[in-house]
Amino acid sequence: MWQEKRYNSNNMIEKAIDKSRIPQHIAIIMDGNGRWASKRLLPRTMGHRAGMGALKTIVKACNELKVPYLTVFAFSTENWKRPVIEVDFLMRLLIEFLHKELTELHENNVRIHIFGDYGEIPMDCQIEIKEALHLTQNNSGLVFNIALNYGARQEIIEAVKQLSQRVTTQDIKPEDINEEVFSQLLYSGTMPDPDLLIRTAGEMRISNFMLWQIAYTEIVVCDTLWPDFTRADLIQAIKEYQSRDRRFGGLGQGSAD
Ligand code: IPE
Ligand code: IPE
Ligand code: MG
Repeated sequence: MWQEKRYNSNNMIEKAIDKSRIPQHIAIIMDGNGRWASKRLLPRTMGHRAGMGALKTIVKACNELKVPYLTVFAFSTENWKRPVIEVDFLMRLLIEFLHKELTELHENNVRIHIFGDYGEIPMDCQIEIKEALHLTQNNSGLVFNIALNYGARQEIIEAVKQLSQRVTTQDIKPEDINEEVFSQLLYSGTMPDPDLLIRTAGEMRISNFMLWQIAYTEIVVCDTLWPDFTRADLIQAIKEYQSRDRRFGGLGQGSAD
């Protein structure tokens, strides 16, 4: 059980990070599954399977560290460009993950959300997702957002369409549109913006992930490939985040008058 494991690694956490300044929202671009497999002369799909193990570890760790929100990029709107066999495997893997982990996630009070249009994915996958959403809807622990068939530009366009519709029906005046109104139409709704964005496998790009929400997010890119990403790597990223001087366009804490 997660509860039992929680205190085993507490010493390490205690020393490494300031528990009073845990990021409220961590977003992760889980990248490098294919490279992990290639390095081992395995098919790319085996990298995705290994990546599921890392995901399980990180969801548990975030729950234990009392991170309120975790958003992971599982499948982008651009990932449909990949071979059908890989796309199919990824969908099956998601079903498997939800099937195997749902009971434990629910017992640990995790609430699951999906960012993205999951109406476009295979029906059996949709059924599994609906069950997960329904079962965990009243949970009050970690909010676990799975970005699936997600693209930030598409998300923004959808919000613009909804706003245009509301303007047409005179439900809202153009002059009343502001950042708050707009934000609430995104998948993240009223959730806080990510404080920390982690990208594994070294690429220095955003790949169409949460473009609106990461305006002032601290970005940590690590070379570790996603299947190798551990709880210690997560703690390291949080430590890095805690060392940053977040200025939000103002003057930093260390600046002179
Ligand atoms: C991330 O790993 C998983 C998904 C995008 C679904 P990749 O499959 O992109 O792995 P690399 O980047 O090819 O190593
Ligand atoms: C981003 O990784 C998407 C996910 C992690 C699901 P990609 O591997 O698709 O990104 P690019 O193609 O390297 O930009
Ligand atoms: Mg990749």
